[in-house]
Amino acid sequence: MKGINKLQRKWGLGPVQFWLVIATFALGGSLSGRLCSYLLKMVFLEKNWAFWLVYPLLLTILWPFSVIFVSFFTGQFSFFRGYLGRVGSRLLGSGLATDAHLGESAAPSTASTAPIHIAIFASGAGSNARKIIEHFEKKDLPIKVSLIVCNVPGAGVIEIAKEKGIPTLMINKADFASTGYVESLHNSEIQFIVLAGFLWKVPEVLVKAYPKAIINIHPALLPKYGGKGMYGSRVHEAVIAAGEKESGITIHWVNEHYDEGAIIYQASCPIDAGETPETLAHKIHALEHAHFAPTIEQLLNKKN
Ligand code: GAR
Repeated sequence: MKGINKLQRKWGLGPVQFWLVIATFALGGSLSGRLCSYLLKMVFLEKNWAFWLVYPLLLTILWPFSVIFVSFFTGQFSFFRGYLGRVGSRLLGSGLATDAHLGESAAPSTASTAPIHIAIFASGAGSNARKIIEHFEKKDLPIKVSLIVCNVPGAGVIEIAKEKGIPTLMINKADFASTGYVESLHNSEIQFIVLAGFLWKVPEVLVKAYPKAIINIHPALLPKYGGKGMYGSRVHEAVIAAGEKESGITIHWVNEHYDEGAIIYQASCPIDAGETPETLAHKIHALEHAHFAPTIEQLLNKKN
């Protein structure tokens, strides 16, 4: 039962879909077995040694097609299209492309020339998203922002995605909490997730599907001024009200708790006399724009 739950989380599926996927595997397997026997009987009249030599080879070839065929009837085509794509790219040597999906490795590496696909999750204006997209547009690196995930209709980041020709996935709270949209992310070959002004808590299912592959930027020096409800100007108001002498930015790994994952990078700025939340926000954005994209690049290069 533990193994089943683990697999369910890894694939990011609810219980009903999980069992439909398992049924598709089983039916696809049995269909390919029957097809295989039928075809080979037409060539070999009896089950001799040559029959048993060719049988597994043909079965391997027919199995994906049978599974895809059955998946139309079980309504699981989109899952298997993504799944078989990942298995295929692994067999063809771009194993890196699937590491994060399969939940076993840390930040994927850029050692291979197959691009690392990043998804940026954002809820607001998207100035950080723009900086990150443009950073990797300019550089000749196998790193690409391939998806924008947004939870606020009309948010500025959606226009940025349109301008840059990057697909957008609009999400709603109930589906995000239950599935984490893991399947959609897998289907888009996403390996690394960047939260850039994303204001919902990341559900456990997503954290588990992307271990050490989700980072967040917070507009203060964590562990202070983090947690639920601490975002945007609220953070700056709290920092100024507390009479702090400095503030800054924190880039950190994401776990199941708000702003509590291990810190990757921090940069600070002074709080001057007469500082307002607006002037502080300006300084913080300047720090974010200078450091966020290079930190992502370093993380993705690190595993080389
Ligand atoms: C950024 O300052 C980011 O640090 C903050 O939202 C802003 C988004 O700006 N994130 C949080 O407060 C998360 N707790 P942007 O939309 O212009 O990139």
